[in-house]
Amino acid sequence: MAIRTILHYPDPRLREKAKPVEAVTPSMLELIEDMAETMYAAPGVGLAATQIGEPHRIFLIDIAGEDEPSDLRVFVNPEILERIGDQTWEEGCLSFPGVTEEIKRANKVKVRALDRDGKPFELEADGLLAVAIQHENDHLDGVLMIDHLGLLKKRIVNRKMQKDRVRA
Ligand code: NI
Repeated sequence: MAIRTILHYPDPRLREKAKPVEAVTPSMLELIEDMAETMYAAPGVGLAATQIGEPHRIFLIDIAGEDEPSDLRVFVNPEILERIGDQTWEEGCLSFPGVTEEIKRANKVKVRALDRDGKPFELEADGLLAVAIQHENDHLDGVLMIDHLGLLKKRIVNRKMQKDRVRA
């Protein structure tokens, strides 16, 4: 297991569309382990493979609170089947350190994916879990939180990230 480097906006690799996973092979499981370690170390509630420069359709989510037992969910080849209603959540992203913005998304989603054993499952989620699923699923298509912002906020976030890059 290894902690991997999380790419920061505007790294062009964050715009790559991830490819479907053909099988959950030992090397994919190793990637999932690395992703989990990287997500918990950050710490974050979700991480998509594209955020560490691995263009595979995999994301992880753990929305358990700090004093709750971990609740790691692995989504391989996820598909959002239904989106119902809407909600606005103050979102952050490990690829946009220091940025939080209100983003409007569906209130409920139904998602289908494979788990870490390669077994298909379906899940209906609402609240933070639904937000996280939509946010991470976006990453796999190269869509980032900044794409959901209005023109002015987009410029502000863009500027902040460019400045941070100069400083880094
Ligand atoms: Ni993100």
